[in-house]
Amino acid sequence: TLSPALIRAESLIRSIPDYPEPGIVFRDITPLLADAEALRVTTEAIIEPFAGQFDVVAGIEARGFILAGAAAIAAGVGLIPIRKAGKLPRPAASVDYALEYGTATIEMHDDLPAGSRVLLIDDVLATGGTLAAGRQLVERLGSHVAGISVLFEIDGLGGRDAIGDLHTVFHSA
Ligand code: PRP
Repeated sequence: TLSPALIRAESLIRSIPDYPEPGIVFRDITPLLADAEALRVTTEAIIEPFAGQFDVVAGIEARGFILAGAAAIAAGVGLIPIRKAGKLPRPAASVDYALEYGTATIEMHDDLPAGSRVLLIDDVLATGGTLAAGRQLVERLGSHVAGISVLFEIDGLGGRDAIGDLHTVFHSA
């Protein structure tokens, strides 16, 4: 059950039909981000189940960066950006994956001590392709995925089956 503050935060997520393509309902979190209290309580809800279990957060481009940055400060840890292909100067690994709309490649630098415990963060879970690729990337570089935490889960697209164990603050049903 969500606290009143989280229920209010959830109400600030805007659903945009037929964006970026017909048939896709885009979950726009920018009104939530613009609200100080909503940003604070959702950031806390993202990290709370994993308190003391991670050494660093990794955020997935682009909207995952925003939440991961807030989560890193709140948890007192550093941040690893997982970026779309071609954006990092010295990528140590890259993974291709299928998106709800299109395909993509993500890359990561190797800036963590082996065995680091990583909390993987993104804004939305849809098919799960992005987070599955993120997990692969982290593991390929010798770190341990301590948890996966997502602000908003879209039900019915298979994401939970693709990822298995993960924490989501809000979901679409
Ligand atoms: C969106 C979202 C997740 C991903 C979820 O990112 O931010 O990262 O899709 O979809 P999936 O579970 O089906 O993989 P997008 O690729 O649109 O990038 P953006 O954050 O840069 O807009």
